[in-house]
Amino acid sequence: MGKLDGKVAVITGAARGQGRSHAVALAAQGADIIALDICADIDTNLYALASWDDLEETRRLVEKEGRRCVASVADVREPTQLRQAIEKGVTELGGLHIVVANAGICPLGDVPRKAFLDAVDVDLVGVINTVSAAYPHLSSGASIIATGSVAALMKGGTDNPALGAGGAGYTHAKKGVTQFVHDLALALAPESIRVNAVHPTNCNTAMLHSDGMYKVFRPDLESPGREDAEGAFYSNQPMPVPWVEPADISNAVVFLASDDAKFVTGLQMKVDAGTAIPHTQAYANR
Ligand SMILES: NC(=O)c1ccc[n+]([C@@H]2O[C@H](COP(=O)([O-])OP(=O)(O)OC[C@H]3O[C@@H](n4cnc5c(N)ncnc54)[C@H](O)[C@@H]3O)[C@@H](O)[C@H]2O)c1
Repeated sequence: MGKLDGKVAVITGAARGQGRSHAVALAAQGADIIALDICADIDTNLYALASWDDLEETRRLVEKEGRRCVASVADVREPTQLRQAIEKGVTELGGLHIVVANAGICPLGDVPRKAFLDAVDVDLVGVINTVSAAYPHLSSGASIIATGSVAALMKGGTDNPALGAGGAGYTHAKKGVTQFVHDLALALAPESIRVNAVHPTNCNTAMLHSDGMYKVFRPDLESPGREDAEGAFYSNQPMPVPWVEPADISNAVVFLASDDAKFVTGLQMKVDAGTAIPHTQAYANR
């Protein structure tokens, strides 16, 4: 028996990285999956986003777990696309109980100022659009999980002016997600719908392994590569790791989705190997 038998989960940004990992982990616990992704690039985001083939691979991996998967292209900036894709999934799979608003971009580097707006549009408005499209299908016992970032919980995350407009937009958006989750949790508590955030530190995905991110960690080099940045990635986490794996975040998502967390709501759950500790109020006031 799985912890999520009979449940249906919608996941945005499901084609690769953490989203794919969440899809497989939730399926392994018995959930059927509505897997959504933009499957196209965004021009101010300098690394490539996922493809349709990536989304198909997620579907294959979910089916390998013995669960059903309805995969659709949907841009979280587009409420109509989200509504239609979620309705299609709910019709085919018979309900909706778990929402994982995970899709994100991090447009670091030498990008136009519009990158601020694009980051906010995907990383904050996209979360709100996802929840709004899913909400009519939810009822008592449902669980909403939004992906924030430890960048929202620390000083000098990506809001350092040296990181450009995209970095500032990313931090603004993730702080917004934190506040949105906090306030929505209170608003939906009387309906017994739970709302929580997961805040990853460096996570071993394409977003981390991008030229813009390498430059953040090795500003001293003109064009740093993976080998140059790998050592510097350790500096983010007090625990001795350069990053966590998508599966580490999925463990938190499965917990928050399941009845193990049936009275857990409004939680800002850090999976950060200690990154945010020096930025907490208690620590800062010492
Ligand atoms: N990787 C990290 O170090 C890290 C750290 C903290 C938080 N996060 C957050 O984790 C989440 C997942 O990112 P990841 O690390 O798996 O990176 P990733 O780039 O591998 O995955 C992001 C996915 O979102 C999709 N996507 C992007 N824009 C979209 C849109 N408009 N509509 C629908 N799908 C869209 C991409 O195609 C991709 O499949 C993001 O919200 C990110 O901000 C990542």
